[in-house]
Amino acid sequence: MTVTIVGSQLGDEGKGRVVDLYGDGADVVVRYQGGDNAGHTVVDGGTEYKLSLVPSGVVRGKIGVLGNGCVVNPATLFDEIDELKERGLDPDVRVSERAHVILPYHRVLDGIEEDVKAEGDLEAATTGRGIGPTYEDKAGRRGVRVGDLLDPEMLRARLEYVVPQKRALAEDVYGVETGEEFDIDVLFGQYRAFGERLAENDMTVNCGEFLAERLADGEEVMLEGAQGTSIDIDHGIYPYVTSSNPTTGGACTGTGLAPTVVGDGEVIGIVKGYLSRVGTGPLPTELGGVEGHTPGYEGGDGSESEELATYIREEGGEYGTVTGRPRRVGWLDMPMLRHAARANGFTGIAVNHVDVLAGLDEVKVGHSYDFRGEEIFTMPSTTEQWGECEANLRTFDGWDPVDWSAVEEWDDLPENCRTYLDYVSAELDADLFCVGMGPDRDDTLVLDDPF
Ligand code: IMP
Repeated sequence: MTVTIVGSQLGDEGKGRVVDLYGDGADVVVRYQGGDNAGHTVVDGGTEYKLSLVPSGVVRGKIGVLGNGCVVNPATLFDEIDELKERGLDPDVRVSERAHVILPYHRVLDGIEEDVKAEGDLEAATTGRGIGPTYEDKAGRRGVRVGDLLDPEMLRARLEYVVPQKRALAEDVYGVETGEEFDIDVLFGQYRAFGERLAENDMTVNCGEFLAERLADGEEVMLEGAQGTSIDIDHGIYPYVTSSNPTTGGACTGTGLAPTVVGDGEVIGIVKGYLSRVGTGPLPTELGGVEGHTPGYEGGDGSESEELATYIREEGGEYGTVTGRPRRVGWLDMPMLRHAARANGFTGIAVNHVDVLAGLDEVKVGHSYDFRGEEIFTMPSTTEQWGECEANLRTFDGWDPVDWSAVEEWDDLPENCRTYLDYVSAELDADLFCVGMGPDRDDTLVLDDPF
């Protein structure tokens, strides 16, 4: 069977930990979209692994697959593999031959476009990893795929077609001087070497077929989403989104497994007990603000909302894994979660970071929105409409910190924390599979196992 892990908010919900936890029951862990814009932290017995591309399941000795829906920067891929090896692991990573390749000019263009957009406050605050430009080339049928790296003639032909276009875009449209990131011979040499290493290590696969065979043999497959539903290119807060589909549909198109196969398995939505966000655009339940990201926010007024934001940011370590940027924080947004539950078809949820909220007198959630004089319970379709929404907050009594490592069953959780979790699970009509109470794998209350 398959178990799909999907971020239900804006990314950074703690998916890595849940993948790691339930990954024990999986034979293969597959990423189906995104690239090295993700930041997955896995803590095992005090050792921390930060991965941005390699599926986090490899830390546990599982086969890790990068599906065709991913965009792969081979330099990052091999750096991460080499680092895991240096730390004594033996990662088994396979890459779909249909996955698209991030080239150095994609990163340069990502930066240029963000700078241009910033002039009109339109930047998406991307991770700068070239994700958007690579997906653009995929859709524009001018991309380079992993399979092309294995075939020198094809690789050269692809580069000869596309690189002059990219150079002209950078130089003639944006007026930027270009360097070796736009040099066909340099790129050919570098990417051919990556292709050779992929081939020597027998790392490339026909992803859908590879996974279907494993499933037919009775193996368990975990599909690991990156980012989150509200930054999905179709279902998120466009244009402040990533360029792929983190939602469950992406698990089908991004692997080659049929919707009937994925739909037959479990789909677990990962929920952070509050909200955090890297990037610009509206955020109705935001507390405080982050300069340059929160629209109209120009820095500290010392309000209670700001103090709460600082408290949550520090307690939760809310700084980007990839970029180190401070994240915007806010109360849990239930309309956002209802939207995610519907778009993804959650069969269960995991709620993380309840320990971060411990110690607050009151914990609030945005239960619904006021939108143009009406109460609404899910997200409107445009980001501009979302920006008009005012959250109707519901207040819960807070809970004190406890010895989280001693929490072994549901009743060990503080009563007010249980009330909060029951509310979320009931509103989403999804069972609670586990509760995250700290960064370590052992700080998880496991209520159910999807496999
Ligand atoms: P990109 O994916 O680098 O193109 O960035 C587009 C938007 O998605 C930006 O707002 C990023 O901050 C956001 N984003 C990308 N990856 C992640 C992630 O793993 N967690 C949270 N936000 C992300």
